[in-house]
Amino acid sequence: VTALAIEKIGLLVTCDPAAGGGPLGAVPDATVVVEDGAVVAVGRSPVVADERVDVGGRCVLPGFVDSHTHLVFAGDRADEFAARMAGRPYEAGGIRTTAAATAAASDDELRRLAAARRVEARRGGTTTIEVKSGYGLSAAGEARLLRLAGELTAETTFLGAHVVPESFAGRADDYVELVVSSMLPMCAPLARFVDAFCEEGAFDADQCRAVLSAGTGAGLVPKLHANQLRPGPGVQLAVDLGSASADHCTHLTDADVDALAGSGTVATLLPAADFSTRQPYPPARRLLDAGATVALASNCNPGSSNTTSMAFVIALAVREMAMTVEEAVRAATVGGAAALRRTDIGRIGPGARADLVVLDAPSYTHVAYRPGVPIVAGVLEAGVLRYRDPVLWSSGH
Ligand code: NIG
Repeated sequence: VTALAIEKIGLLVTCDPAAGGGPLGAVPDATVVVEDGAVVAVGRSPVVADERVDVGGRCVLPGFVDSHTHLVFAGDRADEFAARMAGRPYEAGGIRTTAAATAAASDDELRRLAAARRVEARRGGTTTIEVKSGYGLSAAGEARLLRLAGELTAETTFLGAHVVPESFAGRADDYVELVVSSMLPMCAPLARFVDAFCEEGAFDADQCRAVLSAGTGAGLVPKLHANQLRPGPGVQLAVDLGSASADHCTHLTDADVDALAGSGTVATLLPAADFSTRQPYPPARRLLDAGATVALASNCNPGSSNTTSMAFVIALAVREMAMTVEEAVRAATVGGAAALRRTDIGRIGPGARADLVVLDAPSYTHVAYRPGVPIVAGVLEAGVLRYRDPVLWSSGH
């Protein structure tokens, strides 16, 4: 086995509080040793290694875990965004616009578009990405999107119940029956999670319960789009069903906060969607103070959040949601891992996948403190340097 040492790390964020250095387990002057794609040691002293990467005193973080995206789609909805900024509200129905554009695109076109977004995310420091279907809205259409998603990630989610398609207008229950009886059997082998959009204009609690229960029966782990545009039953349903996460959580009652805090369901906050839809930001402070596990994700999609930038999401969480920088970085790494029920990512320590982000900065604080500018100098995935910024990798900082 070849040992790779990543050395001259000025500040290493391990996300392991046991490492000392506060909630992020931030260790100064560190070296990380990698073998076979995994971290084998984190230390402060020089180590024996076959290969070395000198990061010149930069700050290194675990790669971001983006636990909520809709990466496979065609077309854009810039006009809808502009109209919204001029006062029109966001509605679930816009999903149908993207479903039509996606149906019209070839596999190769979708593959090219999604791969470009995956590269964009990596350049922003994302090393694990969850990808949902949900713009197919038929058995063949959803299976196609899951197959394409599976080319990019193991973290795939069946979201057949994203919106009721035109052909089922006024017959939501019939569509749910189709999702359960014909889409799910075809899609379950291609997915790890099952999800639904619990919202006025999409699906009600009974319909979501039917989809998630059937998905669980087919071996999938439930997740739910909950309480995005108004208060509703989604969060409590997600908790009742033992979901890995309740996503959005923008409008929460105290009972919702308590339910999340007393559960293993992660509250996945998607503030870039609230930004782009002019919603209030989710009550992160209430969730954290109550003891809930919080994740931050990009929600990359053409309707409500057309960004892959986890740094932007962290900046919003810190500036607008009163999360400390440490809480936001944890939510974007270990928090995302928890939302995907993974313990081998989102942290840097023995046994973890060697997914590392090298910042062109001395501290993790710069992720929020330098908003809107490229700050990622390099990205390793499973110990392989997958991205090296041509300017930032070699510059001083
Ligand atoms: O997570 N809320 C539902 N789904 C996406 C939006 C999808 C769209 O508008 O195309 C979301 O915000």
